[in-house]
Amino acid sequence: MKTEFPKSLQQLILALQNESNIDNTMVADLVSANRLSDNEIAPYISYGHKSTESYGRQLIYDNGNFKILLMSWKKGDFTAIHNHGYTEWGCVYFFGEATHRLYEIENEELKILQKDNFHTGEVASVCGDLTHMMGNASSKDFTTLHIYGSNTRNHDVSENAKVYIPEEQKIVTTMGSAYLHMDKQLVLSENPLNYINGDVLSDYYSLVKPFYERNHLIQSIRNMEDILVST
Ligand SMILES: [Fe+2]
Repeated sequence: MKTEFPKSLQQLILALQNESNIDNTMVADLVSANRLSDNEIAPYISYGHKSTESYGRQLIYDNGNFKILLMSWKKGDFTAIHNHGYTEWGCVYFFGEATHRLYEIENEELKILQKDNFHTGEVASVCGDLTHMMGNASSKDFTTLHIYGSNTRNHDVSENAKVYIPEEQKIVTTMGSAYLHMDKQLVLSENPLNYINGDVLSDYYSLVKPFYERNHLIQSIRNMEDILVST
């Protein structure tokens, strides 16, 4: 293994490589036991991400069956509503306070299950069918460490991630990215989003509007407002 990684990160990677059958409890324990310092994550911070990408997404490590990324969240940065494709185990470690929404899907309809924020030092579990949305509704930049893994796949563990785009009335699949206003090149497949309830849409709209305003994407804002009026 290359040795250019900071110490705690290298220990975390080695610990994950040495386990053959990982679950969410194990990965959360390993992340807690190998906490990365601010200095150790500094090389991977990407607050200077493209204006059209709705958060910074820096791949740190990918050996096929698991990958580690550092996401960077400027004020107004948000994911779309998304799940995690083929991911079988994983977690997010928070280096700041993140706004978070957890959804459940009942009869193909999204419902908000939880609106609790995550705080510095907390670890949230992730698996493929976890459908959520997160971002920065505060004025302070922060980062999050993400690990996505599989015990059965040896490549592209987060492929087939489902991303909901209410403003375009679409559900798309990607290799794992969940940007708002997604670049078409990142889209693997596309299906219509036939219905979204008014509560989910108005909450989503309030969270993503700052990103669309920042990027002067007026048509997307109008689309959402039109759909809100009609729901
Ligand atoms: Fe996610």
